[in-house]
Amino acid sequence: MVLFLFWFAILVVLIMDKKQAKSRVEKLKDEINHHRYLYHVLDKPQISDSAWDSLKHELSELENKFPDLIAPDSPTQRVGGKPLPFFKKVSHSAPMLSLEDVFTKEEFEAWLARISKIVPTDKLDFFGELKVDGFAMSLTYKKGILNIGSTRGDGKVGEDVTENIKTIQAIPLKLREPKESEIKNIGLNPDKVLKLISNGEIEVRGEVFMNKSVFEKINLEQKKLGLAEYANPRNTAAGSVRQLDPKLAAKRMLDFLAYSLVIDLGQTEHNQEHSLLKLLGFKTDTEARELKNVKEVESFWNEIHKKREKMAWEIDGLVISVNSNQTFSKLGVVGKAPRGAVAFKFPGKEATTKVLDIIIQVGRTGVLTPVAVLDAVDINGVNVTRATLHNEDEIRRLDIRIGDTVIVQRAGDVIPDVVNVLKNLRPKNSKEFNFPKKCPVCAGEVKRLEGEAAYKCINKKCPAQHREGLYHFVSKKAFNIVGLGPEIIDKLVDESLIKDSSDIFKLEPKNLLGLEGFAEISADKLVASIQKSKKISLARFIYSLGIIHVGEETANLLAVYFNSIENLSLASEEDLKKVPGVGEKATSSIKKWLEDKENKELLKKLLKEVEVQRPPKLSKKLAGKTFVLTGTLESLSRDSAKEKIRLMGGDVSSSVSKETDYVVAGENAGSKFDKAEKLGVKIISERELLKMLE
Ligand code: IVH
Repeated sequence: MVLFLFWFAILVVLIMDKKQAKSRVEKLKDEINHHRYLYHVLDKPQISDSAWDSLKHELSELENKFPDLIAPDSPTQRVGGKPLPFFKKVSHSAPMLSLEDVFTKEEFEAWLARISKIVPTDKLDFFGELKVDGFAMSLTYKKGILNIGSTRGDGKVGEDVTENIKTIQAIPLKLREPKESEIKNIGLNPDKVLKLISNGEIEVRGEVFMNKSVFEKINLEQKKLGLAEYANPRNTAAGSVRQLDPKLAAKRMLDFLAYSLVIDLGQTEHNQEHSLLKLLGFKTDTEARELKNVKEVESFWNEIHKKREKMAWEIDGLVISVNSNQTFSKLGVVGKAPRGAVAFKFPGKEATTKVLDIIIQVGRTGVLTPVAVLDAVDINGVNVTRATLHNEDEIRRLDIRIGDTVIVQRAGDVIPDVVNVLKNLRPKNSKEFNFPKKCPVCAGEVKRLEGEAAYKCINKKCPAQHREGLYHFVSKKAFNIVGLGPEIIDKLVDESLIKDSSDIFKLEPKNLLGLEGFAEISADKLVASIQKSKKISLARFIYSLGIIHVGEETANLLAVYFNSIENLSLASEEDLKKVPGVGEKATSSIKKWLEDKENKELLKKLLKEVEVQRPPKLSKKLAGKTFVLTGTLESLSRDSAKEKIRLMGGDVSSSVSKETDYVVAGENAGSKFDKAEKLGVKIISERELLKMLE
């Protein structure tokens, strides 16, 4: 069905005639303009940049297909915005340009091929640096003293925001005077440089931005005060610099990274500019580096893309420039962008697409989750075809209909979700979705529990719940049976090779041979993997049972308290209530599970198959101490670090607060590190943690 809809959608696009294209182009133009106004003029965006890019992408694709639909007022035909009238205007000495975006390796190589027609590219050196997601700032220094700080504006004329940016600690009010030897070391003439610092005018450009941790803190305060939260760090930063009262701007703790020097101080390469900026007292990008060829550019891109989420501030790609300034100038400017540099962007976290259908999924606990079936769209390198709609309330809140164009977000490893519906793009034949009154799998009764947003299928024998329970049983945090995922479970259930989880351990290679996709080697391999998983810790075993309200954490607490599955199965409600950290909901759900006749049977059968290992005796060395882990640890995986801390009686939390005792900072520690510093929480290294764990 889904496949059919997918091909149907493709067909619709193919046969979209010019008339339809024209009407879509008009609608898209209005929508893009509307969001441009909200963003650039009012500074109150309602959708993210990547969602906006996605709309522009659809428009430019239609314009490519029907070039005579390109109108001079199309958002694809221009860059930038007008300065606001509140500040004094400043004309830039040289235009503040923008950059051409490339998104893929192929597009990057196409850029290279284009410039190779003007300059030889076989021995070309590049310089790569972070593309910080803030906003550009020009700083002029007269006789070494900060004179004017101005925004980009429309590229020619910006706004004088000097008083506000003076509050940014990363911007020097007076240029540092480098030592002669320092200047010589980077291959420049000390006389020339020092003369210009003390007597001339120097213009520095860079990016003003807000660290993620500062942004989170500001939003937390807004929330506490019952005020609207800000959309993203960049707009909050831009808004802060446009505050007419510098005292307010000062509170925002903005940051600045310098990336170019407009004045000729004798530098012949872009990397010298970075070195010199550092000598002049500016914060520069520590990741920036020279790149010898396309391969190095690509691996730099991959390396930074992986680190992106962990960085203290938002970046949306890399800036790759031709390193030689002479070649860079020779390449000139096309439109408003220099030909000698590109923004090699990272994929957006959001995109727009259409809702083809809304279906219901029945989970392990019987919860009915509505899911949007989407016209396939690439988000951050992943082909997204579904997004969760959470529950009926969320469907109402979004007012989402089949046929709608929506903004889908994919952040980290979580299931993509729909963040917004673009109502202006709603087609006439859109269809409302009515939540089913019966379970779509077993036709059983569904109930909305009091105080909960979810409808549940209350049929204990519902096949969907049964399957989901099996998926959970073999999953990573439970039995972790490598090679046994939902697809194979489905086949095993369909062929009646397993009825419940205990049957998994009885499987032999010969049972698997008849299944599609299995040959002798793969069947042996899966059975070996199943056998290997039989030895299991008590905590994992409890978790694998899939008792409602018993997640990883509660399973751990139960394991430590009862020390054996026998003790747990004999526990009374009173006993369960004594377990520290286990709440009332979990207690009654565990009791109910343990009393159920079928569960009792299953437990018996399981214990015949597997070997549950009791937790080792606890050392109380870290009792009462709370840890937060951030960044990448070198010798321990996050999970094993957590387990070790817990085994010594310590707690591990996911967010830093005043109650945190230690923040363990690995490589590329992110916003949690900043927060710990701010709150004065002790920060320790992995080595120090290992010492504590001895
Ligand atoms: S170089 C010729 N380097 O990206 C333009 N720009 O799309 C020179 N940006 O307006 C820009 N980080 O605000 C450059 N390391 C970096 C950057 C950077 C962010 C922004 C800048 C500019 C926009 C260009």
